[in-house]
Amino acid sequence: MSIDKKFLKLFIKVTEKAAIGASKFIGKKDKIAADKGAVDPMRKELNKINMEGTVVIGEGEMDKAPMLYIGEKLGTLNGPKFDIAVDPLEGTKFTANGEPNAFSVLAISERGGLLSAPDTYMEKIVIGSNLPNNLMDIDNGVEKNIRLLADAKSKNISDINVCVLKRARHHEIIRELTSLNVKINYITDGDIAGALSVIGDKPKNDIYYSTGGGPEGVIVAAALSCFGGQIQGRLVLDNEEKLRAKKLGITDFNRKYNIDDMVKGDVIFCATGVTSGDLASGVKDLGNEYEVNTFALHKSENTIKSVQNIYNK
Ligand code: FBP
Repeated sequence: MSIDKKFLKLFIKVTEKAAIGASKFIGKKDKIAADKGAVDPMRKELNKINMEGTVVIGEGEMDKAPMLYIGEKLGTLNGPKFDIAVDPLEGTKFTANGEPNAFSVLAISERGGLLSAPDTYMEKIVIGSNLPNNLMDIDNGVEKNIRLLADAKSKNISDINVCVLKRARHHEIIRELTSLNVKINYITDGDIAGALSVIGDKPKNDIYYSTGGGPEGVIVAAALSCFGGQIQGRLVLDNEEKLRAKKLGITDFNRKYNIDDMVKGDVIFCATGVTSGDLASGVKDLGNEYEVNTFALHKSENTIKSVQNIYNK
């Protein structure tokens, strides 16, 4: 079974409307308002689609998020059953500060196809396509992983580009990478774009190596599954978070998730730029209209495309 191709257009419209909503808050120094600007139209558009959608990755758990919470049913409830992973605004800070790389994103699978991860951190290693399966292992440590990757890519270690989210918690990773003399490309936020910088014909990075959001990890896995890239992730859970994870059916708290553990079957992925970035250009206010740009993937159709649309205000 696969997702009917007619749905791609409908889901693109969802992230387009969310991106337009968030774009009204670009540079306004209000992360929360920007996020809400995306959440409301995203939910409204999703509810118009003839499907029985269930949010598996969303704005948070039911008691923490009023909308797009994990478990929320969306759509007309009259149609195929889908799992929905959303990040209505990835890069709330980027939007609030008017910086690049903010976008609205979602991933869809058939029911049961996406891991429902709690809103906690996840250790992540991400690499691109055409590499041996399960090449990387978090427990190998930084040095062994980088050596394995350099070998598999027939590259010198000093030519390996590593994307790292700039956080104090990555002190040890950065120390090891520095002593290996690889090239480190830091990002200040937005680890979906960071992780996806390893894909494409001329990827900016060979590997993404950091701990970021767990939900973002599943969304990255969905996109990678359309390209043949790989991710390994492990949730970082304190005691309270273990209880939350348990509610989502997670019992092995130390489990390392490879891409096939996070994503199964067909996938649709759409990311519409809010501000311009690596995946898509941002929303352009043309006066009476908005121009929007979306990076769209549909696995079973082998679709990888950039879509531009215009909406009247
Ligand atoms: P938001 O846009 O939801 O604020 O997330 C931005 C982000 O950088 C994610 O891409 C990343 O996974 C996470 O925050 C990292 O969290 P933290 O800022 O706590 O290190």
